[in-house]
Amino acid sequence: MYFGVDYYPEHWVYPYAGTLEAPESRWEDDIQLMLEAGVNVVRMGEFAWGLYEPEEGKFNFDWMRRAMDLFGNAGIKIVLGTPTAAPPIWLAKKHPEILPVDERGVVKHEGTRRAYCANSGVYWDYSQKIVRALAGALGKHSALIAWQIDNGIGGHNTETSFNEETRKDWHAWLKAKYETVERLNDRLGLNFWTQRVTCFEDMPMPMCAPTIHNPALLMDWMRFSSDTLVAYVRMQADMLHQLTPNIPVTNNLRALYRSFDHFDMAGVLDFVSLDSNATINTKSAELAGEIDMMRSLKKQNVRTPNGDCGFWVIEQKAGNVNWQKVNSLVRPGVVRLFTYQLVSRGACGVLYFLWRQPRIGTEKFYGGVLSHDGSPETRAYREIKQIGHELRSLAPVLQGSCVAADVCILFSHDNDWNMRYTPQPNSDFNYREHIQLFYTALHDRNIPVDFARPTEDLSKYKIVFAPSLSLLAGGEADLLKLYVQNGGTLVATCNTGLVDEHHMAPDTGFPHDMTDLFGLEVREFDPLPPGEENHLTFRAGFPATHLHPGRLWCDIIEPKGCQIIATYAKDFYAGKPAMTMNQFGNGRAIYFGTVSHQLFYFDLVTWLRNICNLHPLLKVPDTVEVSMREKEGQRIYFLLNHQNSPVRLHFYKPMHDFLTGKKFTGSYDLPPHGVLVLDEQPEHVHPPPANEPAAATTAPHPAAGTA
Ligand code: GLA
Repeated sequence: MYFGVDYYPEHWVYPYAGTLEAPESRWEDDIQLMLEAGVNVVRMGEFAWGLYEPEEGKFNFDWMRRAMDLFGNAGIKIVLGTPTAAPPIWLAKKHPEILPVDERGVVKHEGTRRAYCANSGVYWDYSQKIVRALAGALGKHSALIAWQIDNGIGGHNTETSFNEETRKDWHAWLKAKYETVERLNDRLGLNFWTQRVTCFEDMPMPMCAPTIHNPALLMDWMRFSSDTLVAYVRMQADMLHQLTPNIPVTNNLRALYRSFDHFDMAGVLDFVSLDSNATINTKSAELAGEIDMMRSLKKQNVRTPNGDCGFWVIEQKAGNVNWQKVNSLVRPGVVRLFTYQLVSRGACGVLYFLWRQPRIGTEKFYGGVLSHDGSPETRAYREIKQIGHELRSLAPVLQGSCVAADVCILFSHDNDWNMRYTPQPNSDFNYREHIQLFYTALHDRNIPVDFARPTEDLSKYKIVFAPSLSLLAGGEADLLKLYVQNGGTLVATCNTGLVDEHHMAPDTGFPHDMTDLFGLEVREFDPLPPGEENHLTFRAGFPATHLHPGRLWCDIIEPKGCQIIATYAKDFYAGKPAMTMNQFGNGRAIYFGTVSHQLFYFDLVTWLRNICNLHPLLKVPDTVEVSMREKEGQRIYFLLNHQNSPVRLHFYKPMHDFLTGKKFTGSYDLPPHGVLVLDEQPEHVHPPPANEPAAATTAPHPAAGTA
């Protein structure tokens, strides 16, 4: 388990710290304090280009080597950033063509980080030079355990740029994809408003125009821009693999925050790292969903520094952020809670952003482990020290343990871009909110979830949820059919299969290529404005605990062999199916033609649990989040109290508390923001039979704990 901080040695030299005589003397004080807090890794250098190469071709890595030597001698390992997120001013002055251009054709100027266009050949050349020089100078350092490529790739809305060099790359990308101009015109549907072209070079970039560009063109533009960023990171990854083959590479991703394909990006990295922006205002199920999504980006060929199977959190906020309107302090115990939430969902490295609040620059009032004065007498330092010591004691048991899920939710960036950037039947329909309804229901019932692209092998999942796959490629539909054919349970929804990968609507009925799978056809769909509702009437067998509404979107379904689970209660489609189930091969394809309130999704999960033989990890009060890591028959449970008040739990089997080393049974009061890390009697570990939830399952009453 790696535990550490993001450190900027360049912020802590004279005149900001140290003395004229000993300008770097603060570094040693920092190392001492880090050691006391249990830190065993730091990330450094991701914005250091301007100091590494103050003038073109004049490199100076000595200062960083001195810092690395100090850390290395103290036994602290190092992740080094390649510094390409912050090109030096001299480079932009010499080559202004590297600067990104926005959709209006306005140049974004130098003077901050991310002032580059990833299509710029000049920028690629300079990037290669600095990466080669860096790897040559510091890549063999014994304390180096990973590279972070660039920083916050695509951040500050730099996923796309509209430079002339981008235009050339765009045309080359289109040519590689479509090969002939005729195919380009046909596939993109350029007969619409007759925007056909006679050569690839005439294809516009989607710059500011009187109205929305052709959706098919927009989709390709997003794919092209994503490919550009992935290619830029791959270029650095390939170089580093060649120059320092034993050092894995990563990048700090934010949970689907930026417009590039995060699965593709994870594919060129050895392991995924994330920036966690958990703040006190975010709901636990939303945070958990982000973490599970990030863990799911890379399921194979993971190469972390210590061989663990998980992901890293390379920037976990140590306190308040600086970008909210009001940047409130993070309450005591909350950073610890968030850290355990990350660890419980698979993190095998956690580093806090940042070690000390900088005295200079844009981020000086960001929460840090230390504040400006550098004293360890801070709330954050005390809390992080506690976590550091706890994680050190947990490390042996966590080593090699992974999160496993029987359930998966599909997500595709194509679909996300389609719903965000092209005209939609209901602009209030939000893809991510729709996904969250399913995720929250599973999360709150303590059922572990993976995310996946529709093209992945889904065969290991008992249930696959596919919320609103509005844009669905023919090949993806085939894979979903295969999954069901072989015995899987697929749950799809309204707003599925409206267009294919070329953004063409089907002439064979909705959902395209899948009317046979669901045994129905969607004849019309009725988008509802906010506040308007239909109601659902359920047939026997579905455990509806409330009156469930249909909101935002109502599919008008013509059944073609499917079983009807629910019908609409009003409007001209009253009595028509709203929810159906169809036997297909050895599996079942469930279709829910509308959107409901959260309570419906809880009932849906209850129903599916019964028909798919799915068990929750533990039964605990709703406000307690449960997750599990497992290895070789050992199950390690994490119970997190997200509330500001204590929760009483009841355990019907003796449990072992890893943090105190004690065993207990019966009732346990989990304090506000408290954390429990447990397993069942450790001396003779008897893994429960497959599918049987541990501990609390022996409860005479369904609830293992009641407040
Ligand atoms: C990102 C960056 C950091 C810092 C934080 C602030 O995560 O990587 O350098 O700017 O944002 O939120």
